[in-house]
Amino acid sequence: MIKKAVITAAGLGTRFLPITKAQPKEMLPVVHKPVIQYVVEEVYLSGIKELVIVTGRHKRAVEDHVDGYIGKKENEYVNDFERVLEAMNIFFVRQKEQRGLGDAVRYAEAFVGDDPFALLLGDNITIPNCTEILIDIFEELGAPVVAIEKVSIERARHRGIIKGRKIKEDVYLIEDMFEKPERPISNLGIIGRYVLTPDVFNYLRETEPGYAGEIQLTDALRNMVLDGKEIYGYLYPGRRFDIGNKIDWFKANIELGLRDEEIGKELREWIHKVKGYL
Ligand code: G1P
Repeated sequence: MIKKAVITAAGLGTRFLPITKAQPKEMLPVVHKPVIQYVVEEVYLSGIKELVIVTGRHKRAVEDHVDGYIGKKENEYVNDFERVLEAMNIFFVRQKEQRGLGDAVRYAEAFVGDDPFALLLGDNITIPNCTEILIDIFEELGAPVVAIEKVSIERARHRGIIKGRKIKEDVYLIEDMFEKPERPISNLGIIGRYVLTPDVFNYLRETEPGYAGEIQLTDALRNMVLDGKEIYGYLYPGRRFDIGNKIDWFKANIELGLRDEEIGKELREWIHKVKGYL
């Protein structure tokens, strides 16, 4: 059983400047809620109640959103989230300096202890809940699982990429992996959802700076694979939006907006009308 989750929300959001000059990218709105709310709700809906969020400088708004109660029950998005916050134990830890995702994950070591844990990147939304599926796969296979999706070669250069042997429908045994490779070895890109075992911390400790001079989680996982440890890739069939990327943020708002009960109909009519002007 997975009882603990880690969300990383320490990245600077450079691709979003100047929007992220004074607010974290995790607070960008997607239809009715900021991105971090989707991610915390994903953890809760996966049956996990113990959560640590790794933040950093300029992330106070994330903490205020996640531990602050509004009190006044304004609407369902407030009420639902307050119920989630009520049921969970949420801790915060701050990354001291920007040294990469692998370094950010290390800050969760004391919280994780000897337990397997779910890891969610705080700037990604998955619909339906990817973490819940990864937990099932972890329980079945008894080894770490990394969610992946098929990407274009252009996008593959901006992702972690895995090479693996398909062992069954949508599941690969990972043979090698690279962070943001110049020449991608496959089109299977990592999407920011993982279930990991605590031995990853031993590897993170030994991992040298890699891509962009930062400590990369992908490099630590690669070293585990090269040491003969089993790690699986799960080809997630759902919708995943990388909010660290401007176009994906727009797409998330449009796609989820179109599906939304409250604004979907009007948005559809408006898009139809606007298409006429362009
Ligand atoms: C991180 C990971 C990368 C993964 C990506 C998914 O990179 O390092 O392996 O493919 O998230 O969003 P980032 O986009 O934070 O640079």
